[in-house]
Amino acid sequence: MKQGLFITLEGIDGAGKSTHAQALAEALQAAGHALVRTREPGGTPLAERLRGLALEQGQEMDGMTEALLMFAARRDHVRAVIAPALAQGRTVLCDRFTDATFAYQGGGRGVSWQALAQLEQIALDHDLMHGQMHNGASHKANNERGAEPADCGQAPRPDLTLWFDLPPPQAARRLQGARLPDRFEAQPLAFFEAVRSAYARRMAEDARRFVRIDAAQPAPAVRRAALAALQERGWIGPAG
Ligand code: TYD
Repeated sequence: MKQGLFITLEGIDGAGKSTHAQALAEALQAAGHALVRTREPGGTPLAERLRGLALEQGQEMDGMTEALLMFAARRDHVRAVIAPALAQGRTVLCDRFTDATFAYQGGGRGVSWQALAQLEQIALDHDLMHGQMHNGASHKANNERGAEPADCGQAPRPDLTLWFDLPPPQAARRLQGARLPDRFEAQPLAFFEAVRSAYARRMAEDARRFVRIDAAQPAPAVRRAALAALQERGWIGPAG
């Protein structure tokens, strides 16, 4: 079975990605994709509990602790939801993924880029599907023969990442009064400037995977730009 498409949505808080996720989901479904919509941190019962810990106002922790929680949640989510769905040929649309950890914990909190890259490897590429694609006994036998288990280890990476990019002052104005801020939304503008720069760095490091959407445009134009990225790849029809 052909591996499904993995699409992620990124951007600072208030950039509007959640609003446009609905239109993207509808367009993908109308084009015949078997769609799984999910989000991070979260997407499984355990990961949602970790989300609660990480986002709760008043729960202070250092950046590396945050990063560890994010990657713990992500590993569970990838194992239980994302990898199985992709293996069944489904399209996964995920609100935030690893880029958010580089942006928020790396850019925002100052955790080193290199440490995050190492964490990513450990959390996502270390025997990820152990106990699902093969049982423990055969895995042990494989290792004793010195053989790597067949392709069970590596987590999927996004095929496309839509980065909804908006200057932080505009994002803050959009969020004002919208809801009670979580721990990240309550950060000062300088934090979001750093998060935004880190997204730009991620894009520069992997330009082919990313599409930057100018989220300062009026909503219909933002939606058209997001849909156009899927149309250009032939994933949805020209009418969206
Ligand atoms: P968000 O998508 O903004 O959820 P909601 O729209 O319900 O508020 O994500 C929650 C917050 O989590 C957001 O402020 C960014 C933060 N976050 C990180 O700091 N690191 C991560 O790795 C992820 C996935 C999210």
